[in-house]
Amino acid sequence: MQWSACREGRITMGEHAELAVLLRAAYAHLPEFFGGVRTWSYVRPEARVMGRDGEGPAAHAGVLRRFLQVDGTDQLTAVVGLVAVRPGLQRQGVGLALLDRVRAFLGELAVPFGILMCAEHHVAFYERGGWRRLSPRRSVYSPDDTTEPRPFVDEITRTTLVLPVTEKDWPDGEIHWNGATV
Ligand SMILES: CC(C)(COP(=O)(O)OP(=O)(O)OC[C@H]1O[C@@H](n2cnc3c(N)ncnc32)[C@H](O)[C@@H]1OP(=O)(O)O)[C@@H](O)C(=O)NCCC(=O)NCCS
Repeated sequence: MQWSACREGRITMGEHAELAVLLRAAYAHLPEFFGGVRTWSYVRPEARVMGRDGEGPAAHAGVLRRFLQVDGTDQLTAVVGLVAVRPGLQRQGVGLALLDRVRAFLGELAVPFGILMCAEHHVAFYERGGWRRLSPRRSVYSPDDTTEPRPFVDEITRTTLVLPVTEKDWPDGEIHWNGATV
């Protein structure tokens, strides 16, 4: 596997087309995204961590730095999403290798934390990759920043995970994303 981290502006149209194939296959349960050459869902990332093998892109994660408000205070974070491994390669450790690369990239960005929200059945995967599950707390976030404004989701989230990068302890308090997850 050849790994790279690439800023969004440097990704070619050909690479978007290839990545869309990977994301379409990995997120077959979200057919509304990744049709054609689209390579993001709720918001466009600013960078991507990718693994390639002889068949093309095999692993991918999107990254977007943003200030979330935590208990009213701006907290810089790198939002991580679009985490995907080609279906035929899953459960062979590629996902954990991807999370290692994501951690290294966030280290290069020198952000205090990574953050993501995921389904309950993916929590164990991220925890094995060094992410920490936050205790249940109120989160307010946009469902989708790619179309017209819609009411924000306001809920108690139980599957928000953070990755300590340059700081250790995620602050307590409700999280206002003021935007969508990646
Ligand atoms: C989630 C995903 C990236 C994991 O990649 P992967 O290459 O299969 O992960 P790994 O093989 O490195 O898994 C490492 C460990 O994570 C856990 N894990 C991974 N996938 C899991 C799953 N579907 N259910 C439960 N545990 C899982 C296991 O503990 C696994 O170790 P094990 O295989 O020895 O039991 C991959 O399944 C995927 O692309 N899914 C579709 C897209 C998606 O839903 N992404 C997550 C969005 S939040």
